Amino acid sequence: MHASFLNRKSRRVLVLVLASTAILAAGAASASAGHGHHGFGHGRVGHGSASITSQPWGTAPDGTSVNLYTLNNGRGMTVTITNFGGIVQSINVPDRHGQVANVALGFSNLAGYVSDDYTTTASGETYFGAIIGRYANRIANGSFTLNGVTYYLNQNNGTNTLHGGAPVSQWNTKVWAATPISGRHSVSLELTYTDPAGTAARVPPMAPPAGNGFPGTVTAKVVYTLTQDDALRMDYTATTDAPTVINLTNHTYFNLAGEGSGGVQGQDLMINADSYTPVNANLIPEGGIVPVAGTPFDFRTAKPIGRDINSGNTQLVLAHGFDHNWVLNRSGSGLSLAARAYDPASGRVLTTWTTEPGVQFYSGNFLQGDLVGTSGHTYRQTDGFTLETQHYPDSPNQLNFPSTELDAGQHFNSTTIYQFSTAGRH
Ligand code: BGC
Repeated sequence: MHASFLNRKSRRVLVLVLASTAILAAGAASASAGHGHHGFGHGRVGHGSASITSQPWGTAPDGTSVNLYTLNNGRGMTVTITNFGGIVQSINVPDRHGQVANVALGFSNLAGYVSDDYTTTASGETYFGAIIGRYANRIANGSFTLNGVTYYLNQNNGTNTLHGGAPVSQWNTKVWAATPISGRHSVSLELTYTDPAGTAARVPPMAPPAGNGFPGTVTAKVVYTLTQDDALRMDYTATTDAPTVINLTNHTYFNLAGEGSGGVQGQDLMINADSYTPVNANLIPEGGIVPVAGTPFDFRTAKPIGRDINSGNTQLVLAHGFDHNWVLNRSGSGLSLAARAYDPASGRVLTTWTTEPGVQFYSGNFLQGDLVGTSGHTYRQTDGFTLETQHYPDSPNQLNFPSTELDAGQHFNSTTIYQFSTAGRH
């Protein structure tokens, strides 16, 4: 399906350079603005006034104060983001009649996110809204080999390393340094975090020459931008001081009818992918890139999420629903259409664009009705879905997949856009 990777590293560098050019071009329009505690200036946007404000939102377990930032595009859409984990706490968008609802699953306060841990509830760690790093998705057997050294990681998902290893190493549990930015046509929140070498090490450590934890200190920046055309844009950049692997995503669960309003089975989804990567019982890709044609994984034409979810297909049984990586169709290396979701009842549309080669569509399979969400309703299986744009799972061990290696001196760049609109009868 995808191009052959004769020289995986140089191809990735080319992709990164092209993507960064696009980001620079887009960023040139926005000027850096004020710092402070409240009301970080605003730019005139359309009928209203775009703004970014902050409020204290409690204290993280490490004693650091945390804020909740409200990005308002002045045209009826607001997004709240906390610098704890870079979590998108709510996305408030109008329906076709102008009625605003929060379409992102989450918690009403910081304590909800702090206790979002696989040891505290049957639903496990949900990662609602969070930035996922240093390696989003699964690494089989919690180990990989890079430049002749085998690195051993913490196994926090059976034998896998999932979403960066134990919660203490995950980027979604860190307090990020935050800088609000007001542009002419958008408002942004810039978040930075430095992830030390050796994070997510296996305990007890393996004896040399084994490596323990992810190698290289990674300096990461994620910029969330809310635009006047109702897009939430995420620009990720990172560098490392030694060769490592990296895979970053955002883990927002969407329900276009509003979080806590029930199941998403009736919401339509299109995924721009001719193939996907089937998994084994550990949800690790078996290595193949398989056509979706004739399977429940065929979302090339929009269909309700629930249409085939109970079909008895072996892959759906293994994952308790959809929890797979789709290999995105793309031409070139820039932003490309990944998916489009539509709620026929409200008319809300979510269009996802990305520079990444894959998307993990996860249908909230492990939500068990034991978490109380933002508006006081419990979340049950299939009450939300994620579209996690990323490289394919377990890429460090699967050399036929696009490379996730990042060397010292290289710049990792990735952009994803969640664009909201409405459609249907008025
Ligand atoms: C994974 C799921 C996991 C969920 C929450 C998703 O990205 O693919 O398997 O249950 O995150 O942890």
